[in-house]
Amino acid sequence: MSIKKGVTAFAVGVLVCIALMGLHTSAVAQREAAKAKTEGVQVSKAVAILEHTQGSEAKGRVTFTQTEHGIQVKGEISGLTPGEHGFHVHEFGVWSPDGKAAGGHFNPTAQKHGEREAAKRHIGDLGNIKANENGNAVIDFVDPRLTFHGPHSIIGRGLVVHEKPDDYGQPTGNAGGRVAVGVIGVAQP
Ligand code: CU
Ligand code: ZN
Repeated sequence: MSIKKGVTAFAVGVLVCIALMGLHTSAVAQREAAKAKTEGVQVSKAVAILEHTQGSEAKGRVTFTQTEHGIQVKGEISGLTPGEHGFHVHEFGVWSPDGKAAGGHFNPTAQKHGEREAAKRHIGDLGNIKANENGNAVIDFVDPRLTFHGPHSIIGRGLVVHEKPDDYGQPTGNAGGRVAVGVIGVAQP
């Protein structure tokens, strides 16, 4: 074999190797994508860290966990005035000093405001939480209407604790100002 032929053969060999590596890489990427689709990039847990708004001391942490009966909502909020406080998922996952950047109640099904147990309600209507004499509220309930997937997903929405109780009046329960706001984000399962 002449030197020229040898060099050519080597160059072709290198090109073939590079091409095969490329094919291999794209096959791996395709397999990973298919796996993600079937096994799901299924969200099974979410969390919201609630930060107080201006003039409030309320703060806390709420987790959302998928169960077979719906999403379990669990958490603790401190710094509240004793008694009931409206508790809702709002449209936007944005904190602002007055809490208003979170928008209105999350209502993708265009229903009227209602109690958590009502047949028809805003998806975001989670009723009231109750603070004890020390201003601490413990939250623990399962809601079958909340979901992490599809157009009604609560991921990325706002979680709001209000100054006053939700009296279930229209249009949004007369719960007054917003004392703490958080963003519902994907949590480590
Ligand atoms: Cu609200
Ligand atoms: Zn509502």
